[in-house]
This record gives sequence, C-alpha cells and structure tokens, in this order.
Amino acid sequence: MARKRVAVLISGRGSNLAALIEAAKDPAYPAEIVLVVSNEPQAEGLARARAAGIATAVVDHRAFGKDREAFERALQAELQAHNVELVCLAGFMRVLTPWFVRQWEGRMLNIHPSLLPDFKGLDTHARALAAGATRHGATVHFVVPELDSGPIVLQEAVPVLKGDTAATLAARVLAVEHRIYPQALKLLAEGRLRIAGGECLIDGKPAVRSVDGS
Ligand code: GRF
Repeated sequence: MARKRVAVLISGRGSNLAALIEAAKDPAYPAEIVLVVSNEPQAEGLARARAAGIATAVVDHRAFGKDREAFERALQAELQAHNVELVCLAGFMRVLTPWFVRQWEGRMLNIHPSLLPDFKGLDTHARALAAGATRHGATVHFVVPELDSGPIVLQEAVPVLKGDTAATLAARVLAVEHRIYPQALKLLAEGRLRIAGGECLIDGKPAVRSVDGS
C-alpha cells in the first residue's frame, strides 16, 4: 500500500518532528513526511527537516495580521501543493480555526505534554508540579476546534519524582512523546483508527487510555 503523505506543522525546536522523521526512515513505516511547515521563520525544526531532505515552507502568521483564516488558507495551499493526506501538529503554537480543523477532520493529530484532559494549554509541567500530581505524561489526540480536546489515540504516563523541576519532568515526558507520536501516526496511516461518539477506536476497540496499564 502507498505510504500516506504527511505534513508536520511546527513552531520551534522540532524534537517530535525528528522522532517522526526517524520512524519514517523505515520503508515499512506506513507514512512519509513530505513537508514541514513552520509559522516561525527561525524554527530549529526547519533545519532538521532540511537536513533530512524534506521540503519545508514558512507561513509567517505575522504577514496576515489578525486574519487567521487568511493565514490558514496560505497553510492549506502549501498542504495541497504537496498532496498532503495527513497532518501532525508538533509544537505548532497557533490556535486553528474551525474552518481549518474541518478540512482535516479525522486526519490531523496533535501531541500534548500532559495526561489529557488534565492540564490543557501551556506550562503543563509546572502546573502538574504545582498541583502536586503524582503522575504526568503525554497524549496524542485528534484535533478538534476546542483546544487540546479531541479523541485520544494514545496516552502514556510517567511518575512525578521527588525533587522534580519543570525541566526534569519535561525531559521524562518528552521521551514518551517521541515514542507515542510515531506509534499514533502509524495507526492513523494504517487506517486502524475510527472516531465514534467522540471517542477514538483502535481496530474497532476503545483506544487504550493509558498504555502503562493503569
Ligand atoms: C512538545 O512538548 C509538545 O508536546 C508540545 O510542544 C512541545 C514541542 O516540542 N505540543 P518539539 O518542538 O517537538 O521539540
């Protein structure tokens, strides 16, 4: 079967992008990264993509002022020009309008550094520590118009350890992110995911909410 054509949208470092690129190096992986788009011209991830020989595009949101849809139409034009079939958000720091989300309904994933629905939004690690959480983690989910709220595909927990800082906790979570994002994209590319009643099914069964067995 032809590999699915994937675009990764980034704004910064691009370590999740790197994990997806690495996974897709395997010819047996069912997706190929054909395009990396950043809204930040200086994003470190762009250099990673170029080094891997992947096409890149910069769509700088500042050029569109407050017109979010104009920004997204430019984004959409890039995706269409590369015949993209699936989209992965990987540290993409723009809120997307319902219009754009609808274009990619059931075909766009995001990775979030918390055990959703806990700690939606920013600064998840500091907030988890401040809340006294004993477990934290990462979640891959489908993108819906409401932020960090779509059906969960994969989720994996890490312990919060005594003496953790936001940085040490972030590093532990990031290792999980780099593992579960390629797994989730694989499932999507293989056509094994379905959304029913707002929940994600894997091979027809409710997606395991937590892969650490808890
Ligand atoms: C990750 O923690 C991801 O979960 C969040 O933003 C961060 C991006 O990191 N959405 P990177 O650019 O993939 O290194």
